[in-house]
Amino acid sequence: MNTFDFGIVGLGVMGRNLLLNIADQNFAAAGLDLDLEKVQSLKNEADTKHTIEATTDAQEFVQHLQRPRAIMLLVPAGKPVDSAIQSLLPYLEQGDILIDGGNTYFTDTDRRFLELSAKGIHFFGMGISGGEKGARFGPSMMPGGDKKAYERLRPIFEAIAAKVQGEPCVEYLGNGSAGNYVKMVHNGIEYGIMQLISEIYDLMKRGYNLDEDTIEKTFLNWNQTELKSYLIEITGHILKEKDHDGLRLINKISDWAKSKGTGKWTSQNAMDLHTPLPTIDAAVTMRDMSKYKPERILAASKLIWNSKDTAVNNAEAISSLKDALYFSILITYAQGLSMLKTASKEYNYELDLQTITKIWRGGCIIRADALEDFRKAFAADPNLPNILLDSDIASKVNERQTGIRDIIQFAVQKGLPSAALMNSLAYFDAYRSENLPTNLIQAQRDYFGAHTYERIDTSGIFHTQWNDQKI
Ligand code: 6PG
Repeated sequence: MNTFDFGIVGLGVMGRNLLLNIADQNFAAAGLDLDLEKVQSLKNEADTKHTIEATTDAQEFVQHLQRPRAIMLLVPAGKPVDSAIQSLLPYLEQGDILIDGGNTYFTDTDRRFLELSAKGIHFFGMGISGGEKGARFGPSMMPGGDKKAYERLRPIFEAIAAKVQGEPCVEYLGNGSAGNYVKMVHNGIEYGIMQLISEIYDLMKRGYNLDEDTIEKTFLNWNQTELKSYLIEITGHILKEKDHDGLRLINKISDWAKSKGTGKWTSQNAMDLHTPLPTIDAAVTMRDMSKYKPERILAASKLIWNSKDTAVNNAEAISSLKDALYFSILITYAQGLSMLKTASKEYNYELDLQTITKIWRGGCIIRADALEDFRKAFAADPNLPNILLDSDIASKVNERQTGIRDIIQFAVQKGLPSAALMNSLAYFDAYRSENLPTNLIQAQRDYFGAHTYERIDTSGIFHTQWNDQKI
């Protein structure tokens, strides 16, 4: 009794793998799940070197844990989190720590944080990235909550996290729901990069008519370059995979993309904060577009564009595609990181962007060599509002502009959808525009609604009785 270091509620894929990871690091770990089969199968999987207990009984589970208790919930976001909390509360005491390790919407975490603080219980929202393998062998973890209480969790989390250059991919990130918020934006970036890769793949295939071996090899080669990242790496592996009949599996997978909501939340909240992230918006929209399959089948025979065949040099095309992809991936990170800056002020998270880019270098789905460049940029200037203003990153995107502009022109000419690529370039071109045509929008608002405007030649608020005013 009261001897176990850590408890996990929910022994599904993530819970069970994290628990085994914790036990691997010589911590005694207890598990709780209402499903006896899951409890049993965890016990069966436990090695003799592991100190593991698992039960279906909440009271027995809590009694196993040493005080102050540290318990992580790995149950589906939403009501199951509230139910799990309710089932534990009768047995918890002041000072105990509850951690929600799911993809929870940050305002739910804020609510639970307040409710549990009133009972003296420390509540953490913690994003965990890396899927099943990450959970078992080293995820990236994004905890937010009470800084002092984090010290109780730190040794365990640092032991189980992925490591990059010996540094664990976990660090306390900020107040309240900071951990869930950072994970939400991580997923928004994940959506953006996945959409960009799929557009590049489509251009290779339907645009440049590259053969499948070349496409597969190109992605595998790119992973040895500045594009090196988990998502590029797995794309190479996916394109290589053969079905049981020896044909490529990718060509048999339906194009109807699913989503669990974190990308949409990123876009929705970005609108609330007035922070532009058009690449991520396009990624969410394209997943929605994919669901209109029956309509798209009808439209394909009605809405016709006959593109001209243009002579292309494959090596040049691949080089431009690479520049276009790297350019737009950097732009996607720029959008997400800039959103985190704004959110940190708005929600008093006190986020440190150097810490976030540091713990994203390993373990998580958006890990990439580029993260070390971003970390360096924030180390040099912690107040950097946007990574595109860092000289090193600015030169990286500047040098690749020809590539993205050529690729977008080609996509337009071919009639191939490339919303995320286009929106990345649009963001870049707008961000580097000292003057935008929004002066005309201000004039229109004043014309029809007397909404007033400001002038560039003098200060104050102005309204004009426009000549020829119609309404
Ligand atoms: C991670 C992932 C993970 C997410 C999946 C599926 O960081 O390990 O982001 O948390 O659940 O990527 O997300 P969608 O179903 O929304 O694509």
